[in-house]
Amino acid sequence: ESENKFNSIIKTAVDGIITIDLHGLMEMVNPAAQKLFGYQESELLGRNISMLMPEPDSSQHDGYMERYHRTGIPHIIGIGREVSGLRKDGSVFPFFLSISEVQLVDRKVYTGFVHDITQQKVSEERLRRYA
Ligand code: HEM
Repeated sequence: ESENKFNSIIKTAVDGIITIDLHGLMEMVNPAAQKLFGYQESELLGRNISMLMPEPDSSQHDGYMERYHRTGIPHIIGIGREVSGLRKDGSVFPFFLSISEVQLVDRKVYTGFVHDITQQKVSEERLRRYA
């Protein structure tokens, strides 16, 4: 019952929600995230999260994760950051990324929350230019 409740919440969430394993491979991508990045679920599952970001982050993301596993010092987990996402059509968009670490019974996964801030950016730019 509770699992169905959680599934419904994730499925209908406005923000994108993506779960990756310790190697950065996608395990769950909710419909909002599929839509934001322009992919079908089957094109994402099992693939590296780095495919959803432009360079230089794309080439370095495995290294970011490795560094965290080595040092235990997070730079985004529990803090959040504005980053750039790369869509299937090659366009880039800004979003606010929050990451949480989830300890399952036998292993750890990461859940990323993708909050599109394209419109917020457009409004900010307007205010800046016409203020
Ligand atoms: C670390 C970028 C998506 C999980 C980082 C760092 C950057 C970054 C720049 C390192 C920050 C630093 O060392 O200063 C991005 C970009 C994304 C993205 C551009 C766009 C798609 C995700 C998602 C997840 C994730 C969706 C989880 C589902 C992690 C983890 C770390 C990390 C676990 C290491 C821990 C930490 O530094 O807090 N990412 N990331 N990333 N990212 Fe991502």
